[in-house]
Amino acid sequence: MRQFEEGTTLDRYLMETTRERYPEASGKFTALCQSIALAGKMISARVNRAGLAGMLGGTGDVNIQGEFVQKLDHYANLTFIRALEHGGHTCLVVSEEEAEPVAVPSQFHSGRYIITLDPLDGSSNIDCNATIGSIFGIFRRRSPEGSSASVDEALQSGRDLVAAGYLLYGAGTLLVLGTEFGVQGFTLDPSIGEYFLSHPNIRIPAGTTYSTNEAYQRRWNPGMAAFIERMKDPARKGNARYIGSLVADFHRTLLKGGVFLYPSDRKNPKGKLRLLYEAFPLAFLAEQAGGAATDGRTPILDRMPKSMHDRVPLVIGGSDLVAEATQLMATDPNEA
Ligand code: AHG
Ligand code: MN
Ligand code: MN
Repeated sequence: MRQFEEGTTLDRYLMETTRERYPEASGKFTALCQSIALAGKMISARVNRAGLAGMLGGTGDVNIQGEFVQKLDHYANLTFIRALEHGGHTCLVVSEEEAEPVAVPSQFHSGRYIITLDPLDGSSNIDCNATIGSIFGIFRRRSPEGSSASVDEALQSGRDLVAAGYLLYGAGTLLVLGTEFGVQGFTLDPSIGEYFLSHPNIRIPAGTTYSTNEAYQRRWNPGMAAFIERMKDPARKGNARYIGSLVADFHRTLLKGGVFLYPSDRKNPKGKLRLLYEAFPLAFLAEQAGGAATDGRTPILDRMPKSMHDRVPLVIGGSDLVAEATQLMATDPNEA
């Protein structure tokens, strides 16, 4: 496979990989990624001046998940939908912030891709300036493009993902993109508004860090409790890190190794995280980077969603630790 050098722009990477593999390609996938990258630039700019722009705090609304909507959740959702709807590449957007899939308006061409989206992940970290992000998955529709796509078409297995990725709004802004060509990280140079390849061909290294919300220990199931106890054995040289933004905890796991766990427990027997727009995209990236992701029993990507906002337990990271945790958790209750 062609190796790309640091400093390659996102556009060049997209054009060269697609042209090499699919000489007949229409350029729609490239255009879709460019639209996502543009939304990322707009949200990043807004995040950077959130305290100044009156963008902190809630809108006063509660979303379909029963969670308070932050102003940045709302802005990020609208920004993505506006960036995606007119390019002729997208037919449906499945968003955490929308009760139903959003179809491309009839005046625009209804394209071939379905996008699943967590527009702003880590909402509880917005007001304290900690790292947040946006997560996306890309599926291909089964019906012909040009007509409107049915809602059911958004419910595909994780193995049907064409690509997935996330934007990270931290000390810098990064776009991490996983395709059949592997996982690449691009850093936004805000002075010129361009993304450059900064993390070529990411592979999850061996690591000993575990990442979970230990405040929930008393409601954990036995397998989960046993796994975390093992990680505390000094012989394992374990280490704990938990930011509370899935996208940031996953990014660290991708670069440094280890495992992230948001299991089912007595309060959330189905887990908390959402399958279509949180677990699927990150599981795709983990597998592409040589890691693994399970729901405590089976690989995440083998799951078939029953509805748009399904929740799922998530164990994700280096394959050895994910396998060990999964083995211990195999008999834990899991209603997902
Ligand atoms: P979102 O901000 O999109 O609603 O997601 C929040 C999620 C995820 O980012 C994080 O891993 C998790 O909530 C943290 O949950 P706890 O506060 O229960 O640890
Ligand atoms: Mn989220
Ligand atoms: Mn969110």
